Amino acid sequence: MQVVKTVADLRQQINSLKKQGNKIVLVPTMGNLHAGHLALMKHAHRCGDRVVCSIFVNALQFDRSEDLQAYPRTPEQDLAALEDENVDLVFMPAHEEVYAEEHKPKQDIPKHALNEQLCGKYRPGFFDGIVEVVARLFHIINPDVAVFGEKDYQQLIIIKRLVQDMGFPILIESVATQREEDGLAYSSRNSYLSLNERVQAKQIYETLLVVKTQLEAGSQDFVAIEKQAMDQLAKAGFRPDYVAIRNAKGLESASYGTDFIVILVAAWLGKARLIDNLLLQKR
Ligand code: PAF
Repeated sequence: MQVVKTVADLRQQINSLKKQGNKIVLVPTMGNLHAGHLALMKHAHRCGDRVVCSIFVNALQFDRSEDLQAYPRTPEQDLAALEDENVDLVFMPAHEEVYAEEHKPKQDIPKHALNEQLCGKYRPGFFDGIVEVVARLFHIINPDVAVFGEKDYQQLIIIKRLVQDMGFPILIESVATQREEDGLAYSSRNSYLSLNERVQAKQIYETLLVVKTQLEAGSQDFVAIEKQAMDQLAKAGFRPDYVAIRNAKGLESASYGTDFIVILVAAWLGKARLIDNLLLQKR
């Protein structure tokens, strides 16, 4: 496994891999890798010939509600885990490397209303920071395929749109959310939870399951279902930002007739803002 820190070194490696006819698969991460990330690496191997993982804590996607300095960083463990997953190349750049003027894509990134909704409403600028770094990473690395987790569902939809808008010739692949035994989705932010909060945290998934059961039973009043779920979370000690039932294709609002639904939730528990979702295909 090669580890590179500069764009120049990375490009040299990528060019030589491409010259040999390899299909390059990128898994962008912010490090502090857990089972969710490792599932992305496994899927990446099925999508192409060489797997590149980027580890870059992107300052632009942090706001005042989450401390950039406090974000967990575990580079040694990450590299050991990536080695075990047979990752070929790891890109660990400094901020200045990624944000150099020359690595800005030539075309402006179009803004979409979705960036300001759901998590975007509560974390202003968050998705603008994500599309900026992902566009730069795509521009720098030029992969054939990029793999993202479905846990960050809004991010996934926004990145699919970014690829279309910018005409990046990159296939976006996604991997189902990986969960701990009690249903809590793996996330680097779970490390902000105290022991008691960690036990409470499973209620996020339980709430999603309750909503799913209501929808499957034919409940049609989505506003009432969302409100009930918010109340359930508040009673369990969370400070919910939202519970939303949306069309899973593009996150438009959903109604009874929508055939592919996603239930999304974001809620604070202590210092951790947890997000999760559940996909529901109607028969
Ligand atoms: O999902 C993440 O870890 C980050 O948002 C990403 C896509 C690596 C961009 O910084």
